[in-house]
Amino acid sequence: MNLPENYQHLAAAELQQRLVKAKSDLKDKALILAHHYQRDEVWEMADHVGDSLALARIGAENKEIPYIVFCGVHFMAETADILASPDQIITLPDIEAGCPLADSAEPSAVLAAWEKLEALNLAQDFTPITYVNSAASLKSFCGENNGIVCTSGNAEQVMRWAYKQTEKVFFFPDKNLGTYTGKKLGIKEAEIYLWNPMFGPVGQDENKLREAKLIVWGGFCPVHTPFSKEDVEDLREQGFRIIAHPECEQEVTENADLVGSTSFIIKEIGKAAAGTKWAVGTEVHLVNRLRTQHPDQEITLLSQAQTCMCANMDRISPEHLLWNLEELVRGKVVNRVQVEEKIKAAAKKALERMLGT
Ligand code: 13P
Ligand code: SF4
Repeated sequence: MNLPENYQHLAAAELQQRLVKAKSDLKDKALILAHHYQRDEVWEMADHVGDSLALARIGAENKEIPYIVFCGVHFMAETADILASPDQIITLPDIEAGCPLADSAEPSAVLAAWEKLEALNLAQDFTPITYVNSAASLKSFCGENNGIVCTSGNAEQVMRWAYKQTEKVFFFPDKNLGTYTGKKLGIKEAEIYLWNPMFGPVGQDENKLREAKLIVWGGFCPVHTPFSKEDVEDLREQGFRIIAHPECEQEVTENADLVGSTSFIIKEIGKAAAGTKWAVGTEVHLVNRLRTQHPDQEITLLSQAQTCMCANMDRISPEHLLWNLEELVRGKVVNRVQVEEKIKAAAKKALERMLGT
């Protein structure tokens, strides 16, 4: 459902006062979770803020609270629903908040890739790993095929786990996180096969597929990929340390001083000395917040030319949050995210494997 007209033009003071009231009216009934990329006005209202991994954990641990209001994007709310108790209800204040990276792995296309590996008699040698930024049905696929989910915060340990199960790994949908993590584990460039989804199963190189130790799906995040090696060099020359999210291109992560999830970035900047200069390769809402929180350091976005804003995260406006909360106060649920029962059990298996690694 779209934001009703009577929520569209509220004055800032009224909005704030009604948000505080709705939150207090719901008391223990609703848990507001927010990703680090949320706008400040939404972030301030959250009970918990975190990266994808932390939010999945918090959702899984709070099974008594009837409503989880997820201020993030669709796959995050789906993950919360998969891990929730049967009575819990998950909402996403703007149901249109998606993720182009998740959408880059169309489930039927991933299944067709797997069938190709089966036809080549290779599938049994591969453990599938889906980045949490993916459709619920792909998590289910991983659960059914001895696979697992990962986030940017635990990709390395998850991939280590996967290589203990089988000799090879099929990673989707983020080529950058998959490649970066594989290389960290010692996989060589020549052993990595980039599955270009545009070519479909027929257009892949079968000899290279046979030789690959790691297949990575060719998806990427449009917010993180505009950062370049030139940005890194330019800012380093100006005395900045470079810290980047692993969704950035290899030319950035290979040349950065530090690479990690949003929580990692926050932690590293949080413990740095006054006067440290940071160029940060991640979403701009988080970079701006870090700048405000650490006035004693110099913090800039890694790109001077791009905005690097996640328009999907930004869709969760305080007005959407207010509408969602006030409807819950009135006993009505809007923008519920509900994963189909038939895929939930296997998706949960893959997520619980991740939480157990
Ligand atoms: P985190 O795993 O760091 O929360 O990142 C999620 C995401 O969508 C980054 O683009
Ligand atoms: Fe998706 Fe990129 Fe936005 Fe993260 S920043 S939610 S990966 S589009």
